[in-house]
Amino acid sequence: MSPRLPIVLLAALIILSTPLLALDVREIGRDVGLPPLRGRADTDFHNPLLSGGSMLTIVNGTFPQGLGEPMNIIISAESDSEVLVHSADNGGFLNLMLSTFLASECLGQHLGDTQAANLGESSGNVTQVEELRWDFNDPYLGTCRESFEGGLHARYWIQNSTGAYFIATSVEMNAESGHDIILDGYNLGRDFLAGNLTGQSIPTLNVSNSSTFSGVSTFANYTYQTDVKYVSGLLPYAADMINHYLTVESSDRPPIDGLVAVLTVKIISKPPSSAAFPINRTPVIGFILPLFIGLIALL
Ligand SMILES: *[C@@H]1O[C@H](CO)[C@@H](O)[C@H](O)[C@H]1NC(C)=O
Ligand SMILES: *[C@@H]1O[C@H](CO)[C@@H](O)[C@H](O)[C@H]1NC(C)=O
Ligand SMILES: *[C@@H]1O[C@H](CO)[C@@H](O)[C@H](O)[C@H]1NC(C)=O
Ligand SMILES: *[C@@H]1O[C@H](CO)[C@@H](O)[C@H](O)[C@H]1NC(C)=O
Ligand SMILES: *[C@@H]1O[C@H](CO)[C@@H](O)[C@H](O)[C@H]1NC(C)=O
Ligand SMILES: *[C@@H]1O[C@H](CO)[C@@H](O)[C@H](O)[C@H]1NC(C)=O
Ligand SMILES: *[C@@H]1O[C@H](CO)[C@@H](O)[C@H](O)[C@H]1NC(C)=O
Repeated sequence: MSPRLPIVLLAALIILSTPLLALDVREIGRDVGLPPLRGRADTDFHNPLLSGGSMLTIVNGTFPQGLGEPMNIIISAESDSEVLVHSADNGGFLNLMLSTFLASECLGQHLGDTQAANLGESSGNVTQVEELRWDFNDPYLGTCRESFEGGLHARYWIQNSTGAYFIATSVEMNAESGHDIILDGYNLGRDFLAGNLTGQSIPTLNVSNSSTFSGVSTFANYTYQTDVKYVSGLLPYAADMINHYLTVESSDRPPIDGLVAVLTVKIISKPPSSAAFPINRTPVIGFILPLFIGLIALL
C-alpha cells in the first residue's frame, strides 16, 4: 500500500465535508431524511397537504364531528433564524408576537380546550404549543381581559422539518357567549395580526392571492420588518368543514376566504446591548476549518 493513501483519503474527506460545513446553519437538519435544502422549494414551509396533513386544526367535540379551524398565518422559515426561535428573548417568536400585542395566556392559565394539527410530518397529530391572546397593550394582565371580553387570539404549532410557524388566528366573542367566533372572525383574525405587524389596516373584503403588504413593528427595542403575501390553494372554504361556521359565515360570504397570509420577518434593529455577532452564517468557518484540519494532517 502506498504511504500516500491516507493523505489522499483525508484530502477527499475534507473536500467532501466542505460544502456541508459551508451551509447556512438555519438550513441544516430542517427536513429530516431529505438532502440539504439549498435550491429546494421548501425553504419557506412544507405544504402539509402534500404529506397527509391539513391546514385545518383538529378540534375535539365539534358538532357535527370533525370540524377544524384554519391555520391562516404561516411565519416562513425564510425569516431570520432569531425570529424562529421559540423564546421571548433575543428577539425570538414570542417577542415578535408581543409586538402585535399577543401574549401568553392570563397568568399562565389555559382557559379553553386545546386543539391539535397535522402539519404533514411523521409526528402526525400534534397538540398546539400554546394559545396567545390580545393583551390590550398590557403584556402582564391584558390577556386576562381578553379571556372575558373576547378578541384576537392565536394557537400555534412549529413545523419541525422547516422551522416555520403555523398559526390559527380568530376573533372570538366574550366568555358569556362561549367564545364563539364573530362574523368573518377567521379572516379578521388573520388580517388583524398581519395588520398589527405591518402597521396598516388590511382590507379584509378586498384581499386576494395577489395581495402583499409590508411594514414594521417593535417590542423591547427589537424592530421587525414583515413582508406578507396572501396565498390560495392551502385552505378549503367549505362551510361544512369549518368550526363555528354558524357564527362566522354570512349569507353572501363563506366562513373563510381560503387565503393564508405567509409572513417573512426580519429583525432590522435590536437593542444596542445585544451583540451583533452574525451567528446565522458560517461560510467562513466552514471554509477555514477543513483547511486547518488539512494543514495539520499534512504536518
Ligand atoms: C381530545 O379528547 C381526547 C379524549 O377525551 C383526549 O385524549 C385528547 O387529548 C383530546 N385532544 C385534544 C387536542 O385536546
Ligand atoms: C416536533 O418534534 C418534537 C420532538 O420530536 C415533537 O415532540 C413535536 O411534537 C414535533 N412537533 C410537530 C409539530 O411535529
Ligand atoms: C388524527 O386526527 C384525525 C382527524 O381528527 C383523525 O381522523 C385521526 O384518527 C387522528 N390520528 C391519530 C393517530 O390519532
Ligand atoms: C390590531 O389588532 C386589534 C385587535 O385585534 C384590532 O382591533 C386592530 O384593528 C388591529 N390593527 C390593525 C392595524 O390591523
Ligand atoms: C379594493 O380593491 C379595489 C380594486 O381592486 C380598489 O380600487 C379599492 O380601493 C380597494 N379597497 C380598499 C378598501 O382597499
Ligand atoms: C389566484 O386565485 C385565482 C382564483 O381566484 C386562481 O385562478 C389562480 O390560479 C390563483 N393564483 C395562484 C398563484 O394561486
Ligand atoms: C430601549 O431603548 C431605550 C433607549 O434607547 C432604553 O431607555 C430602554 O430601556 C430600552 N428598553 C428595553 C426593553 O431594552
